[in-house]
Amino acid sequence: MKKKVLAAIMAAAMVALTACAAAAPAAPAAEAPAATEEAAPAEEAPAEEAAPAEEAAPADDAAAEDAGGLIKVGFAQVGHESDWRTASTKSCQDVFSTENGYDLSFVDCDNDEAAQKEAVRSFIEQGVDYIIIDPIIATGWDTVLTECEDAGIPVIVIDRTIDDSDKYVSWVGSDFLTEGKAAAEWLKAYADAQGIKEVNALIIQGTIGSSAQIGRTDGFQEIADREGWTVLDKQTGDFTEAGGQEVMESYCKSYAGKFNVVVCENDNEAFGAMTAMDNAGVTYGPGNDVILISYDACTAGLEDVKAGKITADFECNPLAAPTVEGVIKTLESGGTPEKEILVPDNWYALKDQIVDFSVDGNAQSMIEVTDDVIAAQY
Ligand code: AHR
Repeated sequence: MKKKVLAAIMAAAMVALTACAAAAPAAPAAEAPAATEEAAPAEEAPAEEAAPAEEAAPADDAAAEDAGGLIKVGFAQVGHESDWRTASTKSCQDVFSTENGYDLSFVDCDNDEAAQKEAVRSFIEQGVDYIIIDPIIATGWDTVLTECEDAGIPVIVIDRTIDDSDKYVSWVGSDFLTEGKAAAEWLKAYADAQGIKEVNALIIQGTIGSSAQIGRTDGFQEIADREGWTVLDKQTGDFTEAGGQEVMESYCKSYAGKFNVVVCENDNEAFGAMTAMDNAGVTYGPGNDVILISYDACTAGLEDVKAGKITADFECNPLAAPTVEGVIKTLESGGTPEKEILVPDNWYALKDQIVDFSVDGNAQSMIEVTDDVIAAQY
C-alpha cells in the first residue's frame, strides 16, 4: 500500500477511534481462537536457546514501494525468553507470510527497551504499512508512537499493553489481571478443600514493568490481601528459566521451611524453580511440601502438570496473530477495528486439583490435563 493512501486511511481511522473512545467504554472482548484451537507444533529447541531473529532491513524507500503488492508489516517482538514467546513469534511469522500477502520485517529485541524503540523507528524509515509492537514494558511509548502517527503508520499492540499512550489503533492480548486473580482464587478454593489453613507464598515475578508482570502480581496480591495470606517475598526472574532458578535458589536459602506456595509468573521460571527446589530437597506438586502455581500453560508446562509437579497452570494465549491480521484487514477495507480485543485463556490442572472458584463473581471452569490436551497445546 502506498504511503499517501495509507496516511489518509490512518487519519480517518484515528478520527473515528478518538470519537469512539470518547463516546463509549472499551468494547467487550471479541471472539478469538483459543490456544488449543490454533495450536502450533512445539519448538524443539529450548526457548532461551532460540536463534535471534532476522534484523530489520535498512531504511530503503524504494524497497517500500517495491514490495510487489505485499502489505509491509514491521513487528518489534520482545525477545526469545520463553516457550510462550517462541510460539508467539511462530504464530506471527506464519500469519504474516509472503504466501498470505505480507512482507514481514521481524526484529527480536532481546528484552532491550531501547532496541525496541529503535526497531520501531527503523520500520518508520522503511515506510512499512503497519507496525506491530509487543511492548517489553508498559511505559515510555508516547514519543515513538507520536512519530508513527506523524508518519501515518497505524500501530497495533499485541500481547502486553502500553499504559501511557493511546496512539495505537488496537491492542490484542490476554487479561493479565484476571490471570493473577484466577490463580489466587483457585489457590483459595484448593487450600480450603485440602484443609490448608496458612498460605506462605513466594512469588517469582516476570520482567518488572511489563504489563504481564504487573497484572499477575497485582491480581494475586489483591486476593492474598483479602485472605490475609503472607507473601514472604517477590523478586523478578525476568520470565526466564535461568532467572527462575536463580531466584528460587536464593529463596530456598532465605526461607527454608517457611513457605508452602511458590508462584512463578511463567512456565520457564517454574522450570528453573523446580531445578532449584530439587537441588535444595524441597518437594512440590500435589501432596508435597509446596503448591507450585504457574502461568502460560505451554506444552512443557502442561507436561509438568500431568507429571504432578506444577499444581495448576493459568494460560496466557500466544496465538493472537490471526486476530491482529483481522485488525489489518479491517483497516485495509476502510473499517474501524475495536480498540481492545481480548484473546481467551484457559486454566489447567489434574482432575483432583480441579475446584470450583470464581473471579470477580464470574464462575470459572478448569480443563483437566490429559495427553490429548497436551498434544493440542502450543
Ligand atoms: O507477555 C507474555 C509473557 O511474556 C508470557 O507469560 C511469558 O512467557 C513471556 O515471556
